[in-house]
Amino acid sequence: MDFTLTDEQKNLRELAHDFAEKEIRPVAWELDKDGTFPQAIIDKAFEVGLMNTHVEEQYGGPGLSYLDGCIIEEELSWGCSGVQTSLGCNGLASAPVFLGASEEVKKEFGESLTQDAKLASFCLTEPDAGSDVSGMRTRAKKVGDKYVLNGSKCFITNGGYADWFTVYAKTDPDAGHRGISAFLVKKDDTVIVDKKEDKMGQRASNTATITFNDTEVDARYLIGEENKGFKLAMMTLDRTRPGVAAMATGIARAAFEFACDYSKERVQFGVPIAMHQGIQFMIADMATEIEASRLLTWQSAVLLDQGKRNTLQSSHAKRFAADTAMKVTTDAVQVYGGYGFIKEYPVEKLMRDAKIMQLYEGTAQIQRLVIARETLLPRQVGAPA
Ligand code: CAA
Repeated sequence: MDFTLTDEQKNLRELAHDFAEKEIRPVAWELDKDGTFPQAIIDKAFEVGLMNTHVEEQYGGPGLSYLDGCIIEEELSWGCSGVQTSLGCNGLASAPVFLGASEEVKKEFGESLTQDAKLASFCLTEPDAGSDVSGMRTRAKKVGDKYVLNGSKCFITNGGYADWFTVYAKTDPDAGHRGISAFLVKKDDTVIVDKKEDKMGQRASNTATITFNDTEVDARYLIGEENKGFKLAMMTLDRTRPGVAAMATGIARAAFEFACDYSKERVQFGVPIAMHQGIQFMIADMATEIEASRLLTWQSAVLLDQGKRNTLQSSHAKRFAADTAMKVTTDAVQVYGGYGFIKEYPVEKLMRDAKIMQLYEGTAQIQRLVIARETLLPRQVGAPA
């Protein structure tokens, strides 16, 4: 076991950190204030190769590993996780395509992302189907050689800016999770962006409601087999939760660094507050938990890179890193004292941003549910991903 990054990985980390420091940090708090979509940053990130890092070389991407992706995501989220959510969403949207679509369709949609700074969205959640994916109501009916989609998806990242969507819909409404299929849907007049959410945190990211109104989808854009969409969604989340864990680690690290710096400057009782044991203990716990978050994240990514199933480790990483981000950012506000509560200081934004880590791509409770199931009823050890 060797935790040393390769020279290429160190270079990637430096590139991403530099980008976060120069392009994201200087505008992050301003974007947060007005909920401004970071289009200019997306264009620059595309230019320097920090988007679509997961896309394989035959579709025009660099084909980086899951671990490489996590290293980049931590750095960019250190800059601003709202911006990184916008930059990274193509990975979530395209994962089912690369898992299940035909070669021709992979090429069409893979290249659509690598040729231009295009965005795609992942449409799973519905107003009445969040954690309970099988409760979805969006319907896809086969008519000739097309499917016709009707229904509404909510909380869709980049929804207002996406050129295409991976959409889950019921093809057999009476079959529960075994009646869901996944489709590729290009934006057209029948795809309506209803609403831009005004959020607590990650305000730079766009979150929309997308309604499909008799939207026609060519049958070749069914991803994988009919009624096999639920598994595709689960396999997608196994692959993207390590990235969320990396983002949570980036948020926590940012808050930790601010708290350390502030604790050395702020004087109370005649000494910098870093000299007080009460503060030191908070800093120590932050440091340990951030390290542990990163190691769990890397483990869950490395398993994927080895072609192994990572469901359990992915949930371990996502749940621990998300809870850590929430705790560390809350403690960072505590270290700042009353100033931490004021928008002029950096940590309150991080505390707001951290909250979504415990919610999207499976809540903290869903991760625990997966962990409990995988622990009590373990699947085959070393099973293929
Ligand atoms: N890989 C492959 N197959 C899997 C799997 C996995 N990780 N997990 C489950 N399956 C399979 C099971 O083996 C089972 O197969 P069979 O049909 O052969 O029996 C089938 O899927 C059903 O499994 P469960 O009985 O475990 O399903 P469930 O209904 O109890 O749900 C759940 C499990 C973990 C709760 C799941 O529904 C879940 O993860 N919910 C959370 C959804 C979620 O994360 N939503 C986030 C949306 S995306 C987002 O947030 C991004 C954004 O843009 C904001």
